[in-house]
Amino acid sequence: MERCDVLGACSEEPEQLTRPFASDAMRRVHEHVAAWMRESDLAVRRDNIGNLRGRYESATGEGSTLLIGSHLDSVRGAGKYDGPLGVMVALAAVQRLHDKGARLPFAIEVVGFADEEGLRYGTPYLGSRALAGEFDLADLELADAKGVTMAEAITSFGGDAKRLADDRWAEGELLGYVEVHIEQGPVLEARDKPVGVVSAIAGQSRHSLTFTGVAAHAGTTPMDSRKDALVAASMFVQAVEGYAGSHKGLVATVGQLAVRPGAANVVPGEVTLSLDVRHADNDIRLLASERLIDIAQEIANHRSIALTNNLISQNPTVPCSPGPTALLARAVEAVGYPSLKLASGAGHDAAVMAGLTEVAMLFVRCKGGISHHPDESVTEEDVAVAIDVLGKFLELQAASL
Ligand code: GLV
Ligand code: MN
Ligand code: MN
Repeated sequence: MERCDVLGACSEEPEQLTRPFASDAMRRVHEHVAAWMRESDLAVRRDNIGNLRGRYESATGEGSTLLIGSHLDSVRGAGKYDGPLGVMVALAAVQRLHDKGARLPFAIEVVGFADEEGLRYGTPYLGSRALAGEFDLADLELADAKGVTMAEAITSFGGDAKRLADDRWAEGELLGYVEVHIEQGPVLEARDKPVGVVSAIAGQSRHSLTFTGVAAHAGTTPMDSRKDALVAASMFVQAVEGYAGSHKGLVATVGQLAVRPGAANVVPGEVTLSLDVRHADNDIRLLASERLIDIAQEIANHRSIALTNNLISQNPTVPCSPGPTALLARAVEAVGYPSLKLASGAGHDAAVMAGLTEVAMLFVRCKGGISHHPDESVTEEDVAVAIDVLGKFLELQAASL
């Protein structure tokens, strides 16, 4: 818990926690986490994309590897547990082994992923996509709000953007990937359980839409001859809420809006906005995304405004793997709790890692289900349960080999 406080203070903004991919705040986080890893005799390295990886060797120095981790980046105005808690719980479980002088028949690699939220470049999962060998090299050309390309950001963070393919796991057989994460929803609290086992991770689509009208003088341009891009965008924002609200299980969000030129006395000429669409069923999500883009086009046509749509990223719904998930459920029961199963509406690195290896996830109860907000909160008791469960999982995994 103290370590999460320390990491939570590493931010790009003084008033709130904002820790984007390859930022100075991330550099400070790496210094802390690498030092804690070394205390438990983990061999630490950073790969090209900027994942921090700490390896705890097996008893023989050979055999397969279990990956355990989560992400170290954050959204804007974040809480301090979304991501870092999973890395700290992994570290705590390994620290217990180290303190007992115990080595397992398999190696453990604790991974602090470089980017899961996609705050800086809009595309999520940069870290896990590199490790899973699914990184899209075209993303290297994307620019952040200041015009810095992803390739430049990687280079200045110390990675080699030309060698991202080297980040793909190539260190031998994998036992799987396990991630501990706060639930970010209300189920565990409502069911009065400290932890739960994740059944599946809901898919998501992210689009960037630009409405282009004509910037004009706010004092001299009559109301009936304007092509105000922001009015069109605003109508779309309302339509998104209405559409998602009337389709069960669908959530859709406009979370970013850039208004240009952005002056009080200028009619907005151009608006770029983000659209995030999610549903547990892939077909429903894809259909909803298509329909929402159609609605945007209808609004634009009606107001004689141009519209462009870019698909930024798309991830299908991913079921967690039966083997390690059953083992995790056994670990929860062995620690003394019923193994409640629940689905994740939020995205997680595990969804991408499922393309590389088997995955399992443990959720930890969080207060009020609040997340992506500074009020994110977990109790020390629940975190202790999560560390016990992960420790038990390692024991069961070792016994099953
Ligand atoms: C990550 O937190 C996401 O679900 O967007
Ligand atoms: Mn998040
Ligand atoms: Mn997260």
